[in-house]
Amino acid sequence: MQHSLLSPILVACLLSAVPIKSEEDYGMYYYTFDNDTLTASCTKPEPLIFRLMVDFLTMVKSESDIAMEQCVLDGKGPGFTSPPLFARTIFAATTIAYNTYARYSQYANPATIYDEWTRMSQKQQKVPDCIYIYGFYQIANFIMPEQMTNYSFKQKYENTFHCNLTEILANADSELGLVQRDVDQLKLQLKTDGFNQEGCYADATNFRTINPPCRFDNRSTVAICRNFTHTYNTIWNYGEIVKTDFIDSPRTPVFTQAQQARPFSLGRLYDYLAPPYFEAPAFENGTMMNLTDQFLYLTNVQKDLGADNDKPKLIAEYWADGPKTTGTPGHWQSISLNIIRRLCYDNDDALKLLFAVSAATYDAGLAAWQNKRLYNSVRPATFIPTEYIDDSFQHQFVGMYCDFGDIVGWQWSPYQEDHVITPQFQEYISGHSTFSRAASFILEKITGSPNVPGNLSVTIKAGKSLFQPQCNKSNKACYRQCRVNSLLDSENNYIPKRDVTLGPWKTYRDIANEASISRIYGGIHVTSGDIQGRMVGQKVGEAVWAKVSALFNGCVRSSHDRFRPCSRVSSDGLSSI
Ligand SMILES: *[C@@H]1O[C@H](CO)[C@@H](O)[C@H](O)[C@H]1NC(C)=O
Ligand SMILES: *[C@@H]1O[C@H](CO)[C@@H](O)[C@H](O)[C@H]1NC(C)=O
Ligand SMILES: *[C@@H]1O[C@H](CO)[C@@H](O)[C@H](O)[C@H]1NC(C)=O
Ligand SMILES: *[C@@H]1O[C@H](CO)[C@@H](O)[C@H](O)[C@H]1NC(C)=O
Ligand SMILES: *[C@@H]1O[C@H](CO)[C@@H](O)[C@H](O)[C@H]1NC(C)=O
Ligand SMILES: *[C@@H]1O[C@H](CO)[C@@H](O)[C@H](O)[C@H]1NC(C)=O
Ligand SMILES: *[C@@H]1O[C@H](CO)[C@@H](O)[C@H](O)[C@H]1NC(C)=O
Ligand SMILES: *[C@@H]1O[C@H](CO)[C@@H](O)[C@H](O)[C@H]1NC(C)=O
Ligand SMILES: *[C@@H]1O[C@H](CO)[C@@H](O)[C@H](O)[C@H]1NC(C)=O
Repeated sequence: MQHSLLSPILVACLLSAVPIKSEEDYGMYYYTFDNDTLTASCTKPEPLIFRLMVDFLTMVKSESDIAMEQCVLDGKGPGFTSPPLFARTIFAATTIAYNTYARYSQYANPATIYDEWTRMSQKQQKVPDCIYIYGFYQIANFIMPEQMTNYSFKQKYENTFHCNLTEILANADSELGLVQRDVDQLKLQLKTDGFNQEGCYADATNFRTINPPCRFDNRSTVAICRNFTHTYNTIWNYGEIVKTDFIDSPRTPVFTQAQQARPFSLGRLYDYLAPPYFEAPAFENGTMMNLTDQFLYLTNVQKDLGADNDKPKLIAEYWADGPKTTGTPGHWQSISLNIIRRLCYDNDDALKLLFAVSAATYDAGLAAWQNKRLYNSVRPATFIPTEYIDDSFQHQFVGMYCDFGDIVGWQWSPYQEDHVITPQFQEYISGHSTFSRAASFILEKITGSPNVPGNLSVTIKAGKSLFQPQCNKSNKACYRQCRVNSLLDSENNYIPKRDVTLGPWKTYRDIANEASISRIYGGIHVTSGDIQGRMVGQKVGEAVWAKVSALFNGCVRSSHDRFRPCSRVSSDGLSSI
C-alpha cells in the first residue's frame, strides 16, 4: 500500500452534511423534493459515492449539450444524445465503484470476473477513499474527458481529497495498481460494448429510415409528406422530420445499434421484445383502443391540458428529461440519491443501490431501443399532422405562452418546448416507461419495501415552470411565436398559476407510473407504447435483480453467465447482504 498516494483521513469537507435541497448545489435536481424530514434526520455525512455521483451527473448533463453538437458538426454521428448512452455512462461509473467494493469485501463478486482478478486480504476491508475516487475519475475521464477539464474535477479531487489521480502502470503492485486493472478491464469492455463511443456513437448497423426527411413548414409541405407515406404505405413508419421554425436539422434516429450492444443481465435481448405494435392495443376507461384511436386520444388529452389545468402540464415537463438534462436514467439516480439519504445509507449500501439502479436503466435502454429499431414506429408528431391533415381539433397546444387554440391537423404538435418537438427515435416502446419500471422494481427490492420512505413530492412554485416560467417584457426569451394565430401572452400565461405539488408518491411504482403517463400528457407516446414499456421494464427489473443480488451475495458463476440459486440470500433487503 502506497501511503503517500492516499489521504490518511477522510477529508473535512465531507463532515458537514448538506441536505439535498437546492438545484444550485446539485445541478440535476430540477425541483426540490419536499418535506424531506427524514433526510434532515440523517446526521451521518453524505457517503463518498453520493458526492461522486452528484458531480458525475453534472458532467453527464453538460456532455449531453456539447458533445452532441461537435459530433454532428463533424458529421461523425449523433454524439452523446440518447437516454441509453446516459444510462451506459452512469452504469460505467457505478460499475467501477462496485467492482472496487467487491474486491475489498469478503464474498461479493465483481460485475465481471477476469483472469487476474483477486480479492483483498481479510485485513484490508475498508476501501480507502482515494481508491474509489481514482477509479471513478479514470472512467469519467475516459468517457467525458472534456467535462473533466471544464469542471476541473481532477484538481478538485487532488486538492480536496489529496489523491493522486495520474494514471499509473497497470501492473503496479499496489491498491491503486489493482484498481487500475479494473479500470483497464472496464475500458476494454466499453470499447467493445457495441455503443461505438469512439465513433461518436454512430450506428454501424446500416439502419435506414423508410420515409424520406419531411418538412413540416406549412400545409403544402406536410401534404407532400402525406402523399409519400400514402403512396408507399409507410405511414406507420418512423421518418425524419424538420420543423423550420423550431428545429432545423432532420430528426435522424439515434442509437439504432441497441440490438448489438452487450446487455448486463439480459441473456438474449431478443427475449425482451414487446408484441408487434399493431397487435398491442390498449385499454382506456375500459374501452379497447386500436392504434388509430390511440393517436386520436392524444388530441383529447391535449384538450384537457388547457390554461386552467397546470398539473398534467407540469407532470409532462417534470419528467421530460430532454436536452440539457441527464435523461430518465439520470433522473432515477437523483431519486436514488434522495432515497440513500432518507434511509441514511453508508457508502457500501449506497453504492450497491446506485449500481443496481443504473444496471436496471442500462439494460432497460437496450431492451427498449431494440424494440424501437425493430418496429420502427411513427411518432404522434408525424402521424397526427399527416394523417389528419385537414381535420379540425379544438383547444390544442400551439406554442409556449400561447393560448390553446383551434387548429387543423397539420398544425398539431406535442406539448413540449418549442425547440424540442419530439425525440429523434421511434415511438414503440416508451423509454420512459421501460427505464422507470425497471428502476422502481430495483428500488423496491433493494430497500425491501414497495413504499418510498416518508413519501416523495415535488412542489413547483407559482411561475416557476421549466417550459413557461413567469417573465416580463424586458426578457426577450419569453417572446416567441405561436404556430397559429393565437393570443401570445408572455406576461400572464405563465405556469403554474399557484404552487402545484407532484405526488406525494407513496410507492416507487407510483413514481414510475407518473413518469410513464407523463409521455401521454406530452403527446410523445401512445398508450400501447407506454403499457408495453412498463411490461418490458418489469421483466428487465427482474433479470437485473436476479443478477445483482447474486453478485452481492457472491454466488458462484457458471460458464454461461448465469447464476446458481443463491444460498446466502436470506431476504431481499440490503441489510441482510
Ligand atoms: C410539508 O409539511 C408541512 C407541515 O407538515 C405541511 O403544512 C405542508 O403542506 C407540507 N408540504 C407539502 C408540499 O407536502
Ligand atoms: C463548463 O463548466 C461550467 C461550470 O463550471 C458550466 O456552466 C458550463 O456549461 C460547462 N461548459 C461546457 C462546454 O460543458
Ligand atoms: C502521482 O503519481 C504519478 C504516477 O504514479 C507520479 O509520477 C507523480 O509524481 C505523482 N504525483 C504526486 C504529486 O505525487
Ligand atoms: C411552405 O413552405 C415551403 C418550404 O419552406 C415554401 O417554399 C412555401 O412557399 C410555403 N408555402 C406556403 C403556402 O406558405
Ligand atoms: C398528392 O397526390 C395527389 C393525388 O396523386 C395529387 O393530386 C396532389 O397534387 C399531391 N399533392 C402534393 C402536395 O404533392
Ligand atoms: C376516459 O375518461 C376521461 C374522463 O371521463 C375522459 O376525459 C377521456 O377522454 C376518456 N378516454 C377515452 C378514450 O374515452
Ligand atoms: C379503430 O377503431 C375505430 C372505432 O373505435 C374505428 O372507427 C376505426 O376504423 C378503427 N381503425 C382501424 C385502423 O382499425
Ligand atoms: C404518504 O402519502 C399518503 C397519501 O398519498 C398519505 O396517506 C400518507 O400519510 C403519507 N405518508 C407519510 C409518511 O407522509
Ligand atoms: C424582468 O426579467 C428580467 C430578465 O429575466 C429580470 O432581470 C428583471 O428583473 C425582470 N423585471 C421585473 C420587473 O420583474
